[in-house]
Amino acid sequence: MKQDPDTTMTQAEMVRDILRMKEEMRAVILAHYYQDSIIQDIADIRGDSFELSRRARETDADVIVFAGVHFMAETAKILNPEKTVLIPDMNAGCSLAESAPAHLFRRFREQHPDHLAVTYINCTAEVKALSDIICTSSSAERILARIPEDQPVIFAPDKNLGEYARAKTGRELLLWQGVCTVHEQFSERRISQLRAEHPDAEFIAHPECEGVVLRQADFVGSTGALLAHVQESAARAFIVATESGILHQMRSLSPEKEYIPAPPENGCACSICDYMKVNTLEKLHRCMRERTPAVEVEEDLRRKALRPIERMLELADADTEEAKRIVSEISLPFSA
Ligand code: 13P
Ligand code: SF4
Repeated sequence: MKQDPDTTMTQAEMVRDILRMKEEMRAVILAHYYQDSIIQDIADIRGDSFELSRRARETDADVIVFAGVHFMAETAKILNPEKTVLIPDMNAGCSLAESAPAHLFRRFREQHPDHLAVTYINCTAEVKALSDIICTSSSAERILARIPEDQPVIFAPDKNLGEYARAKTGRELLLWQGVCTVHEQFSERRISQLRAEHPDAEFIAHPECEGVVLRQADFVGSTGALLAHVQESAARAFIVATESGILHQMRSLSPEKEYIPAPPENGCACSICDYMKVNTLEKLHRCMRERTPAVEVEEDLRRKALRPIERMLELADADTEEAKRIVSEISLPFSA
């Protein structure tokens, strides 16, 4: 019987083979900051969900290998229909994407047809296609600020990010009640204890955390913003409330500082997204060797999902006049 090479190769051999295949396939490897350290190290580009979408749109590689969760790889495919987009494990889901099934989201929009829908990128292609503008945790505030104040807005699916954006922008938002089951776990009580033990440490948090946690934070931002912050801040120690994969980059870029993972209520030492961690080096190697699983998006759906993603990317760079034009092209009342 033929033996699977992934079960006999060492990690170093696998890494060498991945780099070789990358050249042969003219591939680029994109990795989210929550991936295992070894996957982040091998990647050409590491980033948060906004940065990875932007880089996926810009790449001239023939193949995108996306080490992240499914909605991220799917977004890369929507932006690059002619490219092969591989993902190490098709089961890399996301609790937020699961919280918003398309048929319920459509009904929600039909119940509020005069509302414009700003939807977090953590959702399926079907929900993107039912949305007006996609946002990420790093772009939500900026995008909401570009929408006329008298325009009612639905924000989905993350209620915590929505509540945070509502508090920051001061605008009313109709919130979908989804949560990230990883960020929802941080314990206000255990964080208060840690803060008392490390009075000089800054407490930094991802906006998917609950309001009671965010209100304690010295700094709130996307994974990319948290990483930039620890490099820029004068603080020497940080209590970090997000998935612990980000600590690898923090330690690589500012090794002289101390990083203390904020603990979840369940007693674990740090917070781990099981969806992200279904991707392994072995699966990354196998998906490149076998060129599968590849993410596919049916063309009609892809075209409908594309414009809301493009609006997010365009609004990031747009001046006020251009932003007005982009928002004014959205047609309301909603009809699917
Ligand atoms: P970022 O936009 O910070 O990458 O967040 C994505 C995500 O899934 C966080 O849980
Ligand atoms: Fe989804 Fe939360 Fe995992 Fe991010 S950390 S991929 S939001 S489940």
